[in-house]
Amino acid sequence: MILVTGATGYIGSHTWVELLNAGYKVLGIDNFCNSSRKVLDRVEKITGQKSQFIEGDMLDEKFLSSLFRNNPIESVIHFAGLKSVGESIKIPISHYQNNIHGLLNLLKVMQENQCNKFVFSSSATVYHPNNLIPYVEGMSLGSTNPYGWSKYMSEQILRDIEVADTSWSVAYLRYFNPIGAHESGLIGDDPKGVPNNLMPFITQVAVGRREYLSIFGDDWPTPDGTGIRDYIHVVDLARGHIKALDYLINQKQSLTINLGTGQGYSVLDLVKSFEKVSGKKIHYQIVERRPGDIAQFYANSQLAKKLLDWTVEYDVDRMCKDSWRWQLKNPNGFGE
Ligand code: WQD
Repeated sequence: MILVTGATGYIGSHTWVELLNAGYKVLGIDNFCNSSRKVLDRVEKITGQKSQFIEGDMLDEKFLSSLFRNNPIESVIHFAGLKSVGESIKIPISHYQNNIHGLLNLLKVMQENQCNKFVFSSSATVYHPNNLIPYVEGMSLGSTNPYGWSKYMSEQILRDIEVADTSWSVAYLRYFNPIGAHESGLIGDDPKGVPNNLMPFITQVAVGRREYLSIFGDDWPTPDGTGIRDYIHVVDLARGHIKALDYLINQKQSLTINLGTGQGYSVLDLVKSFEKVSGKKIHYQIVERRPGDIAQFYANSQLAKKLLDWTVEYDVDRMCKDSWRWQLKNPNGFGE
């Protein structure tokens, strides 16, 4: 059985669907602090399978102990955590408590139950911003915000556990910028409050929930002056997790992998692509740069291809099309 923490979140729910479609036995857990209970029915609708789910919190060690005592969990895919760069700067304690304390609780209970296969949701924000692009897995690490540092520290904790106990195998998956949604339009990115990330803001403008998009600077050293990122379809990202899990099960070795397309797109590139596929005009205003932003980063994705035989299937137009279908079918997201 695979335990998926944060199973009702944006990436968690898409990975849950891909795991069920691939025939895995999955137990999902979540505390719904940044997701909706409605995802449970949506996952069942998409896969036609009854989802196994228990509500609970990573900070509740008793809950985690009973989970492993009562279920034959052989490996874990860990998504549960807070992921807002901006919020982490304002309230770092909550990000460190959830992302580090929650991780330590989980790892302790895994060790007590001889469960030692772990897929970790890391992030491109662990790469030091002075690195040349495209980012390669062996480059220097370091962050500019508590969220990024929490991912950096989590990786260090896991590497120390591997040194102490060589029976562990860990997949460190460094995500770039996940966007898009399942083709059914039943699940998608539904951030609470004002979206931090670009795509949910664009779709909320398109559906009439927001008046205009604020573009954080058009004076960056990039071709059109706006920030460049490596956008990856969330379903491609989810499928990368399956490949990484299979690698841990079959090779019994750890790996550190970029999950990105290797292609950079600017903010204006994304707006243009979205307008093309949706037929909607996205009004925007150029405003000041956002603290913590950098001009551009994108992945060298060759190692994922070499080790996992994983490459992305979906291009940026498809990402925009799927994001738009999700928002059009769910103008208020899951409505919570
Ligand atoms: C993308 C681009 C902004 C919003 C963060 C995390 C990263 C990952 C993805 C988890 C930038 C611009 C954005 C807006 C804008 N999350 N932008 N107006 O900051 O690259 O990455 O989310 O792992 O770890 O750091 O993503 O979508 O916030 O920004 O102009 O309203 O869009 O300046 O150039 P980011 P983003």
